[in-house]
Amino acid sequence: FCDWSTEKEATLAIIKPDGVLGNHTDAIKATILQSGFKISREKIIQLDKDSASSFYAEHSTKRFFDSLVKYVTSGPVLVMVLEKENAISDWRALIGPTDGSKAKITHPNSIRAMCGTDVEKNCIHGSDSPQSAQREISFFFDTSTSQWFALPLQSPIL
Ligand code: TYD
Ligand code: MG
Repeated sequence: FCDWSTEKEATLAIIKPDGVLGNHTDAIKATILQSGFKISREKIIQLDKDSASSFYAEHSTKRFFDSLVKYVTSGPVLVMVLEKENAISDWRALIGPTDGSKAKITHPNSIRAMCGTDVEKNCIHGSDSPQSAQREISFFFDTSTSQWFALPLQSPIL
């Protein structure tokens, strides 16, 4: 059975090192599921300097870039693909504003209010547009649907 009826959208979420090491994972996942998202893919990884720099390439000229890369490489992260209708903007709304300390005042029910500390250590990531979501999901997960058909045609590596 395949459900073509709803216009589902996918977005990328990352629980950053402070979220994982601060044991916020279960609470964040509960909030995700209660808010109607399906977690369709997930993996725990450790980002290295190159991959973190590449993921955050749009910020490479910013003052905070080196510190940001150091922070997101400081421990394990949990990367997830979230699916629902309107997933991209609904997820951004649920995580709240970038600065976790301000989120506690202006968006007390947001995830960044729950587990963020400041503008850098804000615990969670969300894609900011359909273009970002597509780039970021394929940054971490294999999204090639034709893989199963393509594989037998490739010459053996042995
Ligand atoms: P940005 O894309 O502006 O925020 P968001 O994660 O809400 O989309 O910035 C990316 C990350 O860079 C942000 O999550 C935390 C970090 N950052 C800082 O460390 N200092 C800053 O002043 C800003 C704006 C972001
Ligand atoms: Mg952003």
